[in-house]
Amino acid sequence: MKDHNDQRPFSEDNYTHNINRNQERMLDRRGFMKTLVGAAGVFAVASLPWGAVAAKELMGLSDKEYPHQKIVNVKDILVGDSVKFAYPSEHDSALLIRLSETNYVAYQNACTHLRCPVFWEKEEKEMICPCHHGKFDAATGAPTAGPPKRPLPEVKLSVRGGSVYAVGVKRYEA
Ligand code: FES
Repeated sequence: MKDHNDQRPFSEDNYTHNINRNQERMLDRRGFMKTLVGAAGVFAVASLPWGAVAAKELMGLSDKEYPHQKIVNVKDILVGDSVKFAYPSEHDSALLIRLSETNYVAYQNACTHLRCPVFWEKEEKEMICPCHHGKFDAATGAPTAGPPKRPLPEVKLSVRGGSVYAVGVKRYEA
């Protein structure tokens, strides 16, 4: 009796007859080269300056740079007074205080406890949060009383041409 399993249904149909092995190797080599070029591109991008910038940004090491924004004319703010402004966006409330003839400081004034607006108490020479009696040192932005544990983010300033400008926001450093 004939064993049927020994027989191929069609003698030509061995499922490999249409493969040209040389061509197959060429495709392999081309695919490999493509992979190499792709990998080199990824490494190049990662090692270029913007790769470093992105890494720095992700690690929170660099200060944020924002467009410069005029806050007030020097002649319009007396020593000991404060001016409220928004920086860097219109939703970021901030406070500029003129501590002396030449010393200006500014902070984003959302309290670092629960974000109530902090205001400048001229007589006390302190920044006060009315919500839970938080207080901040105007010279440094550091908390001095109440529940806040972190300093207020400092707005970097530049005084030039008779005006005070906001030029950036310092990152919080623990
Ligand atoms: S929100 Fe400022 S002390 Fe609580």
